[in-house]
Amino acid sequence: MKIEVSESPPLANAAAAADLARSLLSPEARSLVVAGGNTPLELYRLIAGRSLSLGRLHIFVLDEYAGVPLEDPRTCTNLLRRTVQEAWKIPPEHFHPLSSLEKEALASVRDEERRIAALGGPDLAVLGIGPNGHLGFNEPGSPADSAARLVDLEPSSVEANRRWFGGEHAPARGATLGLKTILAAKHILLLAYGSSKAEAVKKMVDGPRSERCPASWLQGHPEVKVFLDRAAAARLQG
Ligand code: F6R
Repeated sequence: MKIEVSESPPLANAAAAADLARSLLSPEARSLVVAGGNTPLELYRLIAGRSLSLGRLHIFVLDEYAGVPLEDPRTCTNLLRRTVQEAWKIPPEHFHPLSSLEKEALASVRDEERRIAALGGPDLAVLGIGPNGHLGFNEPGSPADSAARLVDLEPSSVEANRRWFGGEHAPARGATLGLKTILAAKHILLLAYGSSKAEAVKKMVDGPRSERCPASWLQGHPEVKVFLDRAAAARLQG
């Protein structure tokens, strides 16, 4: 795991954007898994500002809230359609959405995992991390070989969802790509900013590899770059 600590999120985003742009321009890069949430949005904007020619890429949504109307602009799918597919000028048919309808979410994420496998696994993944160490919606208790599935979320994640939806929805379940697919990505870039992530970052980097902190499985991956601000790095040793 390579860790880069910057003084502030804007500096970390600039470093991450330079790194991601290089990876995206590699001719081998075809499939990219992307996280929603707050943290990567500025990175996505910086990439859009570079006007790169990325039309060959396939964009896969990492996870999705289950139990939210499809047209809600705050679903991961709708957020990533705007901030990645449209902003980066990727052909719409290269965007792989997930369904936020409870009855469709599981089938859609399983189908997505099959489509990623058909492309030879993800070339790149851009991830955030939950305060509880989750990756996507792979909550604590997720084994490294977990598959795409519908997950009952921890109370802290349900509360984060409630805040995300301004109190209008508080999804208690989420559909997520499994850790097996995430860990199969050839390159992984993870961003974490702010003191609320410091404990999870410490467990991810310095803790034992364990289901208790799903992000700790990244320790075994050969190509992970972690971009942190000072606050998120505050509890790291050394
Ligand atoms: C969202 C996702 C989540 C978030 C994590 C951090 O698609 O996969 O794992 O990356 O909960 O969320 P933010 O960035 O909002 O702090």
